[in-house]
Amino acid sequence: MNSIWHQLDQARTDLSDGKLCAIPTETVYGLAARFDHPEAILKIFEVKERPFFDPLILHIGRLQQIEELTEEFSELAEGLAKEFWPGPMTMVLKKSLKVDERITAGLETVGIRMPSHPLCLRLLRNLRSAVAAPSANRFGKTSPTRASHIREEFPDQNFFILDGGDSSLGIESTVLRPDKQKIQILRPGPIGETQLRAFLVKFELSHIEITTESSQHSPGHMKHHYQPAIPLVWSQRPVLSSSDLESIQRNLRVSNLRHKSLDLPRDAKLAARVLYSQLRELSQAPIDFIFFCPPLDAEGDWTAVYDRLSKASSLQI
Ligand code: TXA
Ligand code: MG
Repeated sequence: MNSIWHQLDQARTDLSDGKLCAIPTETVYGLAARFDHPEAILKIFEVKERPFFDPLILHIGRLQQIEELTEEFSELAEGLAKEFWPGPMTMVLKKSLKVDERITAGLETVGIRMPSHPLCLRLLRNLRSAVAAPSANRFGKTSPTRASHIREEFPDQNFFILDGGDSSLGIESTVLRPDKQKIQILRPGPIGETQLRAFLVKFELSHIEITTESSQHSPGHMKHHYQPAIPLVWSQRPVLSSSDLESIQRNLRVSNLRHKSLDLPRDAKLAARVLYSQLRELSQAPIDFIFFCPPLDAEGDWTAVYDRLSKASSLQI
């Protein structure tokens, strides 16, 4: 049962038998079920304690699968797919009748992505069926970027975990909705506005607007999300003053003020890669809060990392 071929085979068999299976992706690990097994889909919500109003995204291995799953595939959507798939982009498209309402939380649209992690892609291609997979964490908590995170998160569950090593990107995909005249970014992620803009220029589509929508357009994306087990405090100041400490004590209702700071690399891509594993590690320390102050010499596009950190934090001072 050790070779990677055996492991792939077990993942494929379990999914085909209607069981859940954790899968590696280049963003974060997902908790997967075949999209056409309604019982397994319900099980995802149960295991994650996820509310039914938060839709799941579908993962595909080949572009042709789009035909079965969606009603409309505009030229813009096709262009985006060819440019960014396989990769960390989820597109929200009009769903076909084959996609069960439980997956989309009753919406007319469905989120779809083709991951680039080689093991995941091979699994999806062997399966010949889309799988629904949210991040493999309890609802509202930090997403897992390695197999051991999932074992720790779900000690009582015995679904199979396909171990694909550390996720290379470390934060969830960019969720977008291509429209006739615009691309709406519903969740910022590894593919940022600069890359989308470059794509539009390359295909002479510069008239198309890019907008960033507020959370309510993406039902599961609420103010508090991605929360570590120990409260995170986002501070504008690198050194906490005594009045900061008082405010932390009052707001977090903690009796001690032991803390450690989350020190991220200054490059945005490297920061994204280690963000969740560092939050998990710090959550195991004997401390009362985690402290984060944005690096002064930050480089690259921090939009997605700051989005996650602001939602993960319990207090901003
Ligand atoms: O990178 C990722 O996207 C990871 C890996 C496993 O692929 N998956 C992931 O899934 O982050 P999840 O369920 O944790 O987040 C999916 C997000 C949610 O915020 C959900 O509300 C949004 O996508 N979403 C899904 N379907 C949608 C739809 N039809 N319309 C708007 N937002 C949708
Ligand atoms: Mg999630």
